[in-house]
Amino acid sequence: MKIIGVVGAGQMGSGIAQVSAQAGYHVRLSDVDMARAEKGKVSIAKALDRLVQREKMSEDEAAALLNRIEPVAGSSSFADADMVIEAATEKEEIKRAIFLDVGKVLRDDAILASNTSSIPITRMAQASPDPKRFIGIHFFNPVPVMGLIEVIPGLATSDETLETVSDYVETLKKEIVYAQDEPGFVVNRILLPMINEAVFVLGQSTANIRDIDKGCRIGLNHPMGPLELADFVGLDTCLDIIKVLYNTTGDSKYRPAPLLVKYVEAGWLGRKTGRGFYDYSGPVPVPTR
Ligand code: CAA
Repeated sequence: MKIIGVVGAGQMGSGIAQVSAQAGYHVRLSDVDMARAEKGKVSIAKALDRLVQREKMSEDEAAALLNRIEPVAGSSSFADADMVIEAATEKEEIKRAIFLDVGKVLRDDAILASNTSSIPITRMAQASPDPKRFIGIHFFNPVPVMGLIEVIPGLATSDETLETVSDYVETLKKEIVYAQDEPGFVVNRILLPMINEAVFVLGQSTANIRDIDKGCRIGLNHPMGPLELADFVGLDTCLDIIKVLYNTTGDSKYRPAPLLVKYVEAGWLGRKTGRGFYDYSGPVPVPTR
């Protein structure tokens, strides 16, 4: 495997591009237009600058890594890719449209993977050119820092695809957890109910934002409290995932917390919009309740 296409140059797609280029792959980083794809590359360049400043990477290494990332628009330049990883918005119709589009140019032996956080792989494989070559590769945010990748074969995924993807993950020097194609896989199935519950706790005024996060940070030794983490992941993404859990299982324990729905409706999506449970406009995040 030499050439990897990444669809979506946001936080996740840029991270996937960065770690893949770091492992020596040539990466085509695509978004709906060239400006967004280039913005993704700029964010990678900034992350690498920080690593160079902290003397964790040499200037030459950073320059070589960046050289291996080529921003592109749309899917037409994936014709020679060995694998394409979709890391677009967590909306099934958007992902399906991407798979159909990539399928028009993808080589007959190339793999198509989705970085979905929760949408069933077997179902989405129906929009891919070949379900045998379709698989879930779930990265964690921030991708360059987090050491885990979940690999999720669908019902039709071939052993060969699974093996190739496992080899790819190994080259990234990350740990693999294999998960069955069940909603939320392993980690998000556990994490999202925790985040959702934290929003219920906030909505019932059991404690304020600072104390809910402090409780989990200190009481559970988590690096971030659940509300900080929700802001970090994006409240829209959290809501999308909990809705998938709720809709696919029909289990009321996954019903979205009303306050989470309200925040998303208000456009308070977390760090990326400057406001979520915390306000990020000043030098340090300030709790909003
Ligand atoms: N590339 C390479 N390295 C990077 C980087 C990047 N883009 N961004 C940060 N780093 C490195 C820094 O250089 C630093 O390294 P050292 O510790 O060796 O100096 C390290 O990462 C930590 O960075 P910071 O010092 O800037 O920040 P921090 O110590 O406050 O840690 C954090 C930040 C790593 C995000 C930490 O708070 C954390 O682990 N939070 C929890 C994250 C988490 O749970 N993620 C999973 C989210 S769920 C998910 O992703 C699944 C889903 O589908 C929703």
